[in-house]
This record gives sequence, C-alpha cells and structure tokens, in this order.
Amino acid sequence: MRAISSIKQMQEFCRRQRQKGKVIALVPTMGYLHEGHLSLMEEGRRRADLLIISIFVNPTQFGKGEDYQEYPRDLECDKGLARKVGVDVIFAPGTSLMYPSGYQTWVEVTEVTKNLCGASRPGHFLGVTTVVAKLFNIIKPHIALFGEKDFQQLVAIKRMVADLNFDIEIVGMPTVREEDGLALSSRNTYLRPQERASALSLSRSLRRARGLITSGERSVPRIIRAVKAIVGREKLIDIDYIKICDVESLKELRKIDQRAVLALAVRLGKIRLIDNCILEP
Ligand code: PAJ
Repeated sequence: MRAISSIKQMQEFCRRQRQKGKVIALVPTMGYLHEGHLSLMEEGRRRADLLIISIFVNPTQFGKGEDYQEYPRDLECDKGLARKVGVDVIFAPGTSLMYPSGYQTWVEVTEVTKNLCGASRPGHFLGVTTVVAKLFNIIKPHIALFGEKDFQQLVAIKRMVADLNFDIEIVGMPTVREEDGLALSSRNTYLRPQERASALSLSRSLRRARGLITSGERSVPRIIRAVKAIVGREKLIDIDYIKICDVESLKELRKIDQRAVLALAVRLGKIRLIDNCILEP
C-alpha cells in the first residue's frame, strides 16, 4: 500500500494505471475510518483493479462554529485498517495543496441541497461537491463509492456527476450499524455513554416508521408524529429536522405513494447526528 500526498504524483500515478487498462475505484473519506467506510472499500476492491481512498478533512464543508478543528483524526490507525481491506493507495493531500491561496472556484448543485442538512448547514454541500469534483479530477476513477448514511450527499453527488458529465459510476452503499442499531459515524467517538443511549432512539424511530409502512400507514404527518414521539422523549436530544422526502428531488411529500426517504438530524450536546431509511410503499 502506498501513501501519496502530492496532487501531481497522484495524477501521474493514475494516468499510468489508466494507460495500463486498470479499472480504478475511489472511496473519498475524511478518515477516522470505521466499518462503514470499510464496507465501501470492500465493495470497491471487488469492482476494480486498483482501490484508492482519499483521506482529507475538507475545511470548506464545515461552517463557522462547526467541528472542523475537533474532527477526529488518526492517520496511522487509518493506514492499518486500509491495508487490511486491500487498499492500494491512500491519497492524503495537505489543506494548502487542495486550497492554495487565490483559490476561488466552486461546484454548486443548487436544488437537492436546499432542504434537510442544506438548510441547517449553509454552504456545507458547496464544500462537499467542490472537494469531490476536485478528487474526481485528480484521480479520474471509473467508479466512486459513497454511503447512504449521508443520503443527501449521495443524491447531490449523483446530480453533479450527471449534470457535469463526469464519466464515473457512482455506487451507493447501505448504512452499516452497530448491533444495537446505531449508525456508525466518526463522530460517535465523542458520545458519552448516556448520549449514546439516547442516540439509539434514532434507529429505533426509523424501525418504527418502517413498521408503520408495513402495516399500511401512508400519511407523512402521522409517521413523522410517531418518529418525533420516540426521539423527542430523549431529554439530551434537540431535534434539528425529521422529514420524509422523495428519494431523487428530496422535496417533502404529503403521502407515501412513491419511494421516499425518512431523514432525521439531531443535536446531542455539541454533536450532530444524522440517520435515514428508505420507505417503500
Ligand atoms: P466521511 O464522513 O468520512 O464518509 C466517507 C464515506 O463513508 C461517505 O460516503 C459516507 O456516506 C460513508 N459512510 C459514513 N458512515 C457510514 C456508515 N455507517 N455506513 C456506510 N457508509 C458510511 O462523507 C464524507 O466523509 C465527506 O463529506 C466526503 C464525501 C469525503 C467529502 O469530503
């Protein structure tokens, strides 16, 4: 396994690999790897000759007062995990290489980024789509893998790839959870035991919503009320949003008569957690 931090070197390496006819898969990450990230890498390993991951805590997707400085980092541990799943190259560029002084170009997906986390975190998706576009241009992968855990991010990236004609297949992968249901997240490391117990209400409420769908419920307000009743009971939790949206446009629905996503975001002290599930009528 190689670690590359220079953009030029990364581009030259990838150019040679493409010339040799190798299929390249990319898994973009911000590091502090867990089983969720590793599941993306394992799928990339299966689909490609060459598996590249990026580790870059992208400053432009963090708002003022968000946790950019505190975001957990452990490159040595990440290298060990990446090696185990068969990663060929870790691309870990420095911040000033990715955003040198004078930087002023942005990639904006305008519509699907308005609702949900886009409303609570202005500028967040502008940072995400910009850095992912840059990674695509540096590595030029054939395939790139993203988690459904960040559902709106996946939708925005699919939109960007279609709209800007990136010749890249985007693969969405299911959310990996702890045995008790908690969706894996690098930020979970900051949950105190009591907060972690409260955080379980998220996945519990999603299970409840799916149960209601199975028993024939189709009313969005009624499902949201049931979810709110479970999450809202937790004193440590402040609800940011609970919404049910169309899976492509991310516009809110009144009735579930098409594939929908139930998405929620909460604050637990200083930590922001998101989760979601698909609701199929
Ligand atoms: P990060 O939060 O490190 O996540 C990297 C990838 O892992 C994303 O595609 C995310 O959806 C996926 N992921 C995270 N938790 C997961 C889980 N429990 N199950 C399955 N997949 C999971 O998302 C980002 O980084 C950044 O925004 C990035 C795309 C790298 C751009 O900076």
